[in-house]
Amino acid sequence: MGAMNGVTIEVDGTGVEVPEESSLLTAVRAAGIELPALCSDDRLSPAGSCRTCLVRAEGRIAAACVTPASPGVRVDTRGDEVVRLRRDAVEVIVSALPPRALADDSPSELAHVCRSMGIGPEAAQDAGGRGGDESHPYVHLDRDLCIACGRCVRMCSELQGTFALTLVGRGGDTVVAPGTGGPWAESDCVACGGCVDTCPTGAITQPGPARGLTSAFHPAEARTRTTCGYCGVGC
Ligand code: FES
Repeated sequence: MGAMNGVTIEVDGTGVEVPEESSLLTAVRAAGIELPALCSDDRLSPAGSCRTCLVRAEGRIAAACVTPASPGVRVDTRGDEVVRLRRDAVEVIVSALPPRALADDSPSELAHVCRSMGIGPEAAQDAGGRGGDESHPYVHLDRDLCIACGRCVRMCSELQGTFALTLVGRGGDTVVAPGTGGPWAESDCVACGGCVDTCPTGAITQPGPARGLTSAFHPAEARTRTTCGYCGVGC
């Protein structure tokens, strides 16, 4: 096997080598540093929309998920300003959710991020009431928990190739919805489970006795890699 074509960058003063064309987010994580990245999933193209992954790179504030790891670049994840900006970004997202989004027993990625930052349910100030879609036997949507990160939409299109989902609405009212415009059960969804797996908030869940996030029952190394239309699990 040939040697990895890599680039070396500096993260918080420590050198780390990552493959060419990696993002700063990949490099930061390779350095063992946990960084929130609520609109990012390493199986999907980056969106750069949530601003929860901000770092300082060569003196400039940058979204780590969409910034290339250029050779020699120096990244700071710990400075007071970037820590505050990341917290602000998470708090803005959380403020538009109901407190149950951060329930003590929530296994969601967002709840984990908030626990790690000391952000509690009191920061979630939305009254909810947008309702849900429980028309589908294998996939349920809770619109109040949707942060419009678009991960489910990209999972459906980029990994599954189904293009069943889209984002609808404007501004803070943007939520995921079936592209066909009707209930989920009448959409092009093939119940692959990819959207459940990638959703960072629990807005899209698998109903039934094991109701919850797919990624809550499967370890990270067993997350959905490929899917088909014959079952609601994914492989
Ligand atoms: Fe980087 Fe959302 S994860 S902007």
